[in-house]
Amino acid sequence: MKKEMKIAIVGLGVIGNVHAEALALQGKDIYAVCDMDPDRLLAFPNALHFTDYETMLREAKPDVVHICTPHYLHAPMIISALEKDIHVLSEKPLCIRREDIDHILAAAASSKAQLGVCQQNRYLPSNLFVKKYLEGKRCPVGYGTMVWERSDAYYASGPWRGKWETEGGGTLINQALHTMDILQWMLGMPKTVAASVSNLHHGPAVEVEDNAICMFGGDAQFTLLATTGAGADYPVEIILNAEDEVIRILNDTVYIGEKAMSFKSDAPLLGKNCYGIGHSLLIADFYDCIQSGRHFPIDGEEAAKVIRMILACYKSKGKRIPIE
Ligand SMILES: NC(=O)c1ccc[n+]([C@@H]2O[C@H](COP(=O)([O-])OP(=O)(O)OC[C@H]3O[C@@H](n4cnc5c(N)ncnc54)[C@H](O)[C@@H]3O)[C@@H](O)[C@H]2O)c1
Repeated sequence: MKKEMKIAIVGLGVIGNVHAEALALQGKDIYAVCDMDPDRLLAFPNALHFTDYETMLREAKPDVVHICTPHYLHAPMIISALEKDIHVLSEKPLCIRREDIDHILAAAASSKAQLGVCQQNRYLPSNLFVKKYLEGKRCPVGYGTMVWERSDAYYASGPWRGKWETEGGGTLINQALHTMDILQWMLGMPKTVAASVSNLHHGPAVEVEDNAICMFGGDAQFTLLATTGAGADYPVEIILNAEDEVIRILNDTVYIGEKAMSFKSDAPLLGKNCYGIGHSLLIADFYDCIQSGRHFPIDGEEAAKVIRMILACYKSKGKRIPIE
């Protein structure tokens, strides 16, 4: 019989509640919850309550912790749990500073626990189909567009949003990370980038960028156009050239040339439409990995790739530079 795991969540805002809902749908009990705002704990009457993360790790001794806090807290919270051999499923981004990547990878290497990161679009059936379809094919060119709206009210909804110190960036590290991750997952890790980021829409209310053009170079060349300054959320589009075919991914439809294929799934859509259905699929796979001993595919190394790309975009300032 499988041992019942003690599951904890830290950060009970928008996405912490998505994780809680996914766990509930999968019949998993939440053993402990932590949020610095004590009112947010009240929605979890059957769990142990904490307002301090370290106290929760020490006293509740969970087997798994879901990290759903603001970006700047991910690295220290991931490292602290891994040092205690507690499995970690962290929300994206893995971290917001280059030096944190090395610290997290070192902690993961010496931990008995697994680290997984929520880059859930890798679990969308349409993306999984294309990833497999591309195996063995030469796929040298592609692009992705993400045109979304994030209002001033969105940026005002959390004190950490819209600031370099706590969010680590804007459109790229928060929203377009997913599209950039899928492009590199399908086409390969780029070696260089020339990027331009700017704040064209939100003005002084938001420190970070709300627009980006990123032109990646290497064995495959691909471009990402992203904005959170649009008037509405439009579907993300990815187009790839694979040998003599053009492949287009639009939501759950994949077009190969003129042929359209639908990849609808029964997985529940939790939270906003733009999160997709990937969270519950990814969370189920993470637990399957822990229970079976299989290595979770989106580990620290894998999640660090898109962070290296994003940090290089911020550094580029229009010049082509290496991705380190
Ligand atoms: N994968 C996705 O598609 C997706 C979607 C949305 C959000 N996210 C990510 O989830 C994370 C959280 O985003 P959100 O929108 O839920 O933010 P949020 O502001 O709604 O929630 C953050 C929560 O963390 C709590 N918190 C802050 N500091 C804390 C601390 N020191 N200890 C304990 N709790 C603390 C806050 O009180 C708040 O309840 C971010 O990394 C974000 O990028 C991912």
